Amino acid sequence: MRVFLSGKTATEGREDIIMAQLWGGRFTKATDELVYDFNASIGFDQRFFQEDLMGSRAHVKMLAKQGILTEQERDEILAGLDGIEADVKEGKLEITKEYEDIHSFVEANLIDRIGDAGKKLHTGRSRNDQVALDMRLYTRSQVQHTEELLHHLLETILHIMEENTETIMPGFTHLQKAQPITLAHHMGAYFEMFRRDELRLKDIYKRMNYCPLGSGALAGTTYPLDREYTAELLDFFGPTENSMDGVSDRDYLLEYLSALSVIMMHLSRFSEEVIIWNSNEYRFIEIDDAYSTGSSIMPQKKNPDIAELVRGKTGRVYGALMSLLTTMKGIPLAYNKDMQEDKELSFDAMDTANGCIQLFDGMLSTMTFLKDNMEASAKNGFTNATDAADYLVNHGVPFRDAHGIIGRVVLYCIEKDMAIDDMSLEELQAISPVFEADIYDAISMDTCVNKRLTIGAPGKEVMEKAIASYKAYLSK
Ligand code: ARG
Repeated sequence: MRVFLSGKTATEGREDIIMAQLWGGRFTKATDELVYDFNASIGFDQRFFQEDLMGSRAHVKMLAKQGILTEQERDEILAGLDGIEADVKEGKLEITKEYEDIHSFVEANLIDRIGDAGKKLHTGRSRNDQVALDMRLYTRSQVQHTEELLHHLLETILHIMEENTETIMPGFTHLQKAQPITLAHHMGAYFEMFRRDELRLKDIYKRMNYCPLGSGALAGTTYPLDREYTAELLDFFGPTENSMDGVSDRDYLLEYLSALSVIMMHLSRFSEEVIIWNSNEYRFIEIDDAYSTGSSIMPQKKNPDIAELVRGKTGRVYGALMSLLTTMKGIPLAYNKDMQEDKELSFDAMDTANGCIQLFDGMLSTMTFLKDNMEASAKNGFTNATDAADYLVNHGVPFRDAHGIIGRVVLYCIEKDMAIDDMSLEELQAISPVFEADIYDAISMDTCVNKRLTIGAPGKEVMEKAIASYKAYLSK
């Protein structure tokens, strides 16, 4: 418990106060008030109150199974923990700054409630393996949560794909119109990205799902703990295999933050496109009123704030990853207090990324695609120039020469403010006699898109196969 006397640091002779700390026995003075606050983590680790209870329940069941506690002691402790949980839920008991951390809060309240049996809860356990467990349990559930959110986003994307295998739009390189594609094809690229993200999370889960409880402070314990049993009670694949690593490993958290960073990078790229597509110049989409905001001064505005915020918040998530990497880099084995710094920014990153996925999904599923504008834009940007060159190649012109001829065709069109398709056959033949009447069909948007039938290309037939395989993936 918080034991300083207001404004003073020394509490000589106040054993009652000093002993109230979990670790007060060795001390003759209470902690300085500023030190107390600097050291405390209750302000943020109360987030894993539930996980702390889960871990304590499993630990106590195991202690009784091993004959380290009696069954009666176990039952008293379990009832005490239930009571604490219920009182916190009902608001009868508040998690306050009077406690150093969530572990002390639970233990002190248990002792208050059930007396001596409560003092046995921490047998064969250290806060080092306790916090390692709590953080891992909390992160594990967050990993699953992110995966569910991503899965839903993938469903939204697939739905847009299914409806837009014939929606022609320009594909870009260097933000310059390049070749025509379809909206389904464009969305498919994001499907691939978020599917990789989902698979990455599944992979992290496989590696992280081992239980550190029983590692003790760093060197295990001399009590005959059954670590397999606690691991099983908590749904882990098994116990971690080295107790020093068990208390000091935060790799799983780094991997998760790294996966979240990649997810944010993908969302941010997508947001950037939404912002461009929503601009007055493009008008490829209309964001639903529920997902856009207005200007306080300019009545005509409908701003893509959600997309901009998602793009902006990406930096915060990267920040958490960089912060934890830096925190961990100089820590000798095993536990050091630096590791308490793994929490605040990570929690913020989890909330931020999960919130962004959900909001982006909502924005995407409610947006309207202005298909006519997309198609008109594809037609007006020489996106069929490559196909016109390929036409000449198919008629025996070497590609480099064909490239030069079409370059002259494009220049002619720019001067006359027209599309290649608008040129008459005579105009085309004046530049190259190889052109015949079938050129128009060869460079139509339909041909440009639907003749592209290699794996991964936008042609409708290929796209339909991709959609079928994505559907099968999602229903697994
Ligand atoms: N609040 C600490 C943390 O978050 C709990 C572990 C404390 N262990 C210790 N030996 N002081 O890391």
